[in-house]
Amino acid sequence: MDTVAAKNSRVLSGMRPTGLLHLGHYHGVLKNWVELQHEYECFFFVADWHALTTHYEDPSVIAGSTYDMVVDWLAAGVDHNAANIFIQSRVPEHAELYTLMSMFTPLGWLERVPSYKDQQEKLKEKNLATFGFLGYPLLQSADILMYKAGIVPVGEDQVAHVELTREIAGRFNHLYGREPGFEEKAKAAIKKMGKKNAKLYNNLRRAYQEKGDHEALDVGRALLENQQNLTISDQERLFGYLEGSGRIILPEPQSLLTKASKMPGLDGQKMSKSYGNTIALRDTPDAVEKALNKMPTDTARVRLTDPGEPGRCPVWQFHEVYSNSEVQEAVQVGCREASIGCIQCKSYVVDAVLAEIKPMQERAKEYTEDSSIVRNIIAEGSEKARDVAKETMEEVRQVMGLAFR
Ligand code: TRP
Ligand code: SF4
Repeated sequence: MDTVAAKNSRVLSGMRPTGLLHLGHYHGVLKNWVELQHEYECFFFVADWHALTTHYEDPSVIAGSTYDMVVDWLAAGVDHNAANIFIQSRVPEHAELYTLMSMFTPLGWLERVPSYKDQQEKLKEKNLATFGFLGYPLLQSADILMYKAGIVPVGEDQVAHVELTREIAGRFNHLYGREPGFEEKAKAAIKKMGKKNAKLYNNLRRAYQEKGDHEALDVGRALLENQQNLTISDQERLFGYLEGSGRIILPEPQSLLTKASKMPGLDGQKMSKSYGNTIALRDTPDAVEKALNKMPTDTARVRLTDPGEPGRCPVWQFHEVYSNSEVQEAVQVGCREASIGCIQCKSYVVDAVLAEIKPMQERAKEYTEDSSIVRNIIAEGSEKARDVAKETMEEVRQVMGLAFR
């Protein structure tokens, strides 16, 4: 049986299936996932239901995009032996938790999530005045709380959704973490920790509750995480007793803000499919080279002999991502002195980008030649995710009065 500790260090993140991924996804998200997978128990999933909230009129691209996206994850170094890769719709428990949470989620909480109005404004051509779109962040909360994830790596635009998830978890615990005889049960659980730890726990609890000492709260949590001889229920009680008056059944997650990706697009704006300025991870080397060579440069450099200014050139932004300090120095000086040509300057970038995507493309080959490998990886990951989801749902049904048999 896994412990609250394992759950709190779980990482969960999802991506909507948008088709082939590009360098922006790699530098902004995937590199981070690849690092996290060796440090934590990770769950990475394709949010196909979330895709439907905005693409319900044209679902034809979702299945293909799902496959392409998982291939890109694997190609970028997400390791299915280290992380669980799954598809949201293959774990229908997410829908059940979403429904149950909808019972106690105030409408106002959803209406004031910034993305709700922002996206409606931005995607005017779509009718997003739907129940599904309003529920988008609640579905995301269900994704996260299902795995009792402690860490949710996301971009800036998703932080409000994790914040909502914390509120939902708090409300859930407040409503359903109460139980008759809570205090007695908590006290009995404290005894099970042994004299020394029990005393420490009581002191930390007092320091937090009487003096608001947040460090004591953290230390108390860490202490509980290390108790091997407590049942999950007792651990939940003691997490709850530490700070309040009920069990903590669904722990509140933290967002792990991915450093804003500095990955520029071919035109100097942020790399994004909607700007048409991307380099896909699986673009052919030829296409990559052509695209980079066509990039605009400092418009003041008409002739080779005209000095330029890297600060006004989108190619320089690529050097900032890809070049070491020597190359950067050579470019700075050479550009300003007009001793380096733009084609030569770009050639460093071309080499670096190709070197980065080459191993990805080699890895992708195996998965595109035989799609059954990807199917198996997804089947296995979805199975493992479901095992966790089933455990959570049993607990949730129990406290929400749905366990009558
Ligand atoms: N909404 C996220 C996005 O657009 C995708 C997502 C769905 C997600 N469920 C999640 C991300 C749970 C993190 C955790 O990027
Ligand atoms: Fe841009 Fe490099 Fe040409 Fe300078 S030399 S304008 S940095 S491409």
